[in-house]
Amino acid sequence: MSLGNVISVISAKGGSGSTTVTANFACGLAKLGKKVLAIDCNFGFRSLDDALGLQERVVFDCTDVLSGRREADEVCLEHPRYPGLYLIPAPQRLALHEDEDEQTISVQEALASFVTQVSEAYDYVLLDLPTANLDWLLPMSTISKEVLIISTQERVSLRNVDQLYHLLKKQGCVRCRFLLNHYVDAVNCRGIYPEVDQISDYLSCELLGMLIEEDEVRDCMEQGKPIIGKACESGQVLRYLVKEFLKK
Ligand SMILES: Nc1ncnc2c1ncn2[C@@H]1O[C@H](COP(=O)(O)OP(=O)(O)O)[C@@H](O)[C@H]1O
Ligand SMILES: [Mg+2]
Repeated sequence: MSLGNVISVISAKGGSGSTTVTANFACGLAKLGKKVLAIDCNFGFRSLDDALGLQERVVFDCTDVLSGRREADEVCLEHPRYPGLYLIPAPQRLALHEDEDEQTISVQEALASFVTQVSEAYDYVLLDLPTANLDWLLPMSTISKEVLIISTQERVSLRNVDQLYHLLKKQGCVRCRFLLNHYVDAVNCRGIYPEVDQISDYLSCELLGMLIEEDEVRDCMEQGKPIIGKACESGQVLRYLVKEFLKK
């Protein structure tokens, strides 16, 4: 059952930028007055808390709410600079329960059921999924109105976009678009990487847009600050992409 406000974000290849895009889209949507829940699904390898500058505030994590140890509002962290933006951090361990034998359902099933229960309380729920991980992508895509795949211009990454897209379509995924991140334009790509027109011709997946490779993005991520509020080019592009994304 696809929910009208759940967006899954996934990288086609490690480091393509799903966490960067999730963090910035979450802040961008909150700035537009939307109530947003961002969930880090990278169990064991969390990073969305850090990208949002909330790492010092993390006390509980996703497994606490999924296992019933804590209430959702004890676990959700509201962003102090972006009212209306809430984060559920991933745990630093992989299992739902301390004792893995206690685990009767998968974390993916538990999370899908949790999101189904809480999604109505938010305008958007953004899920930052582990890179190219079908164990996460396929169950989460069934509750998402859209899957956003983040890719670079590298051959392997683009090939993965194609593969993920066709798998998602087969599963009946409502909408799937991709975003080219770390984008290097025609002048700088020295004929090594394909340009955007070639990529669009080659892939059946719809292109949402491109986010250029820019030092400010890395610097902001490292400092836990969203780039979306900045005047630099990628800040402007992200603001534009969030608005494009909201168009039906
Ligand atoms: N457009 C960009 N320009 C420069 N650096 C970027 C850009 N997008 C992401 N990064 C950097 O690339 C690294 C990987 O990004 P991240 O969002 O963590 O990827 P993923 O979640 O897909 O593993 C991070 O250090 C991030 O700051
Ligand atoms: Mg990540």
